[in-house]
Amino acid sequence: MPRKIAAGNWKMHGDGAALAEIDALIAAHPDPGVGIVICPPATLIHRMAERVGNAPIALGGQSCHAARSGAHTGDISAAMLADAGASHVILGHSERRIDHGETDAVILAQTQSARGAGLSVILCVGETAAQRDAGMTLDVVTRQVMGCLPDDIDPSALIMAYEPVWAIGTGRVPDGDQIAQVHGAIRALLLSRLGLAGGQVPILYGGSVKPDNAATIFAIADVDGALVGGAALKAASFSQIITALQSA
Ligand code: 13P
Repeated sequence: MPRKIAAGNWKMHGDGAALAEIDALIAAHPDPGVGIVICPPATLIHRMAERVGNAPIALGGQSCHAARSGAHTGDISAAMLADAGASHVILGHSERRIDHGETDAVILAQTQSARGAGLSVILCVGETAAQRDAGMTLDVVTRQVMGCLPDDIDPSALIMAYEPVWAIGTGRVPDGDQIAQVHGAIRALLLSRLGLAGGQVPILYGGSVKPDNAATIFAIADVDGALVGGAALKAASFSQIITALQSA
């Protein structure tokens, strides 16, 4: 996958009718030159994989259980996501941390399980508004990066995503200096943790990325792409974000 990546997190949106958006995306970007990852609800992964075929769009899950199988009603394992056609999985999203109480230790175990199933991991970190106001942003992000990354993670199977919780779904976006500061800190952590290969790990920004702010965000230092929520649900808007990344 190229270093520049546009990833779409569909969250709990989309049914069979939404597969038409994938057809439109494939038609709009037959040879994108940047990485495209769509993470639909798990119920759509298999059907979406059939629609994608050999087109250059990767599919991902939005979370996974740490165990390979077992008595965990309502959960899904990394191996199941891979079996359905996923090559990636989002882990550590703030909505999972908040809605499901997922701690750094849980996310670490999920990351190990995902790698064991051969999935690449899109690992999300980010501070709440209260943590930013208290001047704790870099402490929080450092703790999350260090706590969620296994020592033996393959850097080529890792994508980082900085998603300030207060920017998700709010239309509020940090300014360029704020994004550059956190992305620079994540890059330094990756280099110290993973050596030179840490310099190659893509670092995506996520939180209210839209067609009209994407180019500005992609011009910020150490921003390698975006993890997009709402604007990834429609091919028309996600396509414009992909185009902005292509010319960044
Ligand atoms: P929005 O783009 O809707 O703010 O969502 C961002 C996000 O949480 C992606 O994972």
